Amino acid sequence: MPARLAQISDFHVTRPGALAYGRVDANAALAAAVRALNALDPQPDVVIGSGDLVQGGADAEYDALTAILEPLRAPFLPLPGNHDRREGMRRAFPAQGFGPDHLQRALDLGDLRVLTLDTLREGSDEPQLDAGRLAWLDRALADPRPTVVAMHHPPAPSGVGWVDPVDAAWSDALGARIAAAPQIVRILCGHGHRSLFRPWRGVALSMAPSTAHQVALDLRPAAAPAFALEAPGFHLHVWDGAELATYVASTLGFEDRFAPG
Ligand SMILES: [Fe+2]
Ligand SMILES: [Fe+2]
Repeated sequence: MPARLAQISDFHVTRPGALAYGRVDANAALAAAVRALNALDPQPDVVIGSGDLVQGGADAEYDALTAILEPLRAPFLPLPGNHDRREGMRRAFPAQGFGPDHLQRALDLGDLRVLTLDTLREGSDEPQLDAGRLAWLDRALADPRPTVVAMHHPPAPSGVGWVDPVDAAWSDALGARIAAAPQIVRILCGHGHRSLFRPWRGVALSMAPSTAHQVALDLRPAAAPAFALEAPGFHLHVWDGAELATYVASTLGFEDRFAPG
């Protein structure tokens, strides 16, 4: 049975009227993403928000976030990024039924399973998967159905040094589980603020762009932190019952269509 997963990431929503980094109207950018997603026909079965939903974790930011997402037609499935706070997300999304220890969820889309992981280490930009979250993943991966695993931090290096974790060993325990789970058809992540496709531990991995600002494409090892106002976008992952294909779309100009000839 086919399934469609849209993925939007790294909204960095601010208090109304504020700009992220004094420069980016992240709230207007997320509203543009919502309009683009609402224009999709057929609609996605779910829209995954792969973390950094807000900029600073304040309740006022989560209030702005839920107001901007309110017109979204498709169901929304959020997971936390390093800019998020678990309590803020529990309060903003009570219907998700998040547990007391982490914000991980399992969702069935026909014969495709979607697992969302919580890599948040509160108070730090560094990722973490503690024993409880890994044990949850072990139980989830006992199901042999085709599975997409989504998380905020890429477990593989993005290649942009200032974005990648200080200690790459954080993902070793995850990698061992990925390599031993042949039903995993894709790892989805965000955090890197640009599209990237690469294999990791034998599985295809994709990183989604930000709906707001992108990370400058600068692969020098000592590159200074820098964002770029490249066109924001999203990913649309389409499962045909056997394989997952990914479309990359920009939210700019998405609805401005004209006939050829
Ligand atoms: Fe981000
Ligand atoms: Fe992030």
